[in-house]
Amino acid sequence: MKVAILTGGGDCGGLNAVIKSIVWKGIKEYNYEFVGFLDGWKGALENNHRELTINDVIDILPEGGTMLGSSRTNPFSAGNNPEDVEKTMEEENIDALIAIGGDDTLGAANKLYQRGVNIVGVPKTMDNDLECTDMTFGFMSAVQAATDHLDRLKTTARSHHRVIVYEVFGRYSGWTALYAGWAGDADVILVPEKTYSIEDVCACLEKRRQRGKDYAIVVVAEGATTTEMDEMMAEDEETDEFGHVMLGGVGEYLADEIEERLDWETRYIQPRHIVRGGTPTAYDRILSSRYGLAAIDCVKNKDFGKMAALKGQEIEIVDLANAVADTKTVPVELFEKAEIFFG
Ligand code: F6P
Repeated sequence: MKVAILTGGGDCGGLNAVIKSIVWKGIKEYNYEFVGFLDGWKGALENNHRELTINDVIDILPEGGTMLGSSRTNPFSAGNNPEDVEKTMEEENIDALIAIGGDDTLGAANKLYQRGVNIVGVPKTMDNDLECTDMTFGFMSAVQAATDHLDRLKTTARSHHRVIVYEVFGRYSGWTALYAGWAGDADVILVPEKTYSIEDVCACLEKRRQRGKDYAIVVVAEGATTTEMDEMMAEDEETDEFGHVMLGGVGEYLADEIEERLDWETRYIQPRHIVRGGTPTAYDRILSSRYGLAAIDCVKNKDFGKMAALKGQEIEIVDLANAVADTKTVPVELFEKAEIFFG
């Protein structure tokens, strides 16, 4: 049995741990052969691959990024032909493909599965926005990085009596903003799932000022809007092959409004990829490893069109089609628990 692996979309902590886990168990227990497609679907379309042996993966578990490279290439976008993926698999005698990615990569994987390709998915993304799993790997590493930033920002905000607005990745869901903001003890958190007005944000900050606190932290998800805005803010109008614009800018807008309305010096921080890059947390290393073990077992059991998922403390196997059917957003009840601490 020959198995291919690819990593697609934005990188995150834990990708190498999944790769090690798949290759390790696949070779040691099942005697499979492995190749890795380079740069996500691009490598699968262009037949650009490398062999993967035990020695190639032996030390990679703690490393950030992905040894296979990644891209936002979409096999179904104009100019690409999904048949080329099938052709590559035929040419290289590959029996099954494990796609490690978020909703875009796994959405394409599901479409290929429906065309007859033997595919298994592993849920990756710092955004934690995939359905059918309690958590994607990469999420907790991003949350930890953002929380560390907030701890640092708090001391400088306090020294300079400032408000600091921190805008974090997360696309159309507020998971990363909510978890980091809550863990980092932010004074207000804005997420796409619940819309505040600028007046609401200022009222929270003013309440804090009245408590004698002359510094504050605001965390805002890149996809959050205020009631004054018509739509999510984007850096420009260009879209990637999956049709996404690059979000960003809402934090700067908020910072300007806060400074003007409250006459309170305000700074804006946009850490972007600094939150996503770097080594995975211990939690993500183990979660990723467990996902990899489950994925190679799916291949062994010929359980295709499936995705490894976390349900409570257990790894379960779910339908890929259900996982990519929708975006997993923050439940309002959970957000309201964090909201108690605002202001
Ligand atoms: O999907 C993961 C993510 O990190 C989003 O949170 C963010 O909007 C996007 O990727 C950034 O994409 P890129 O790395 O292509 O700039």
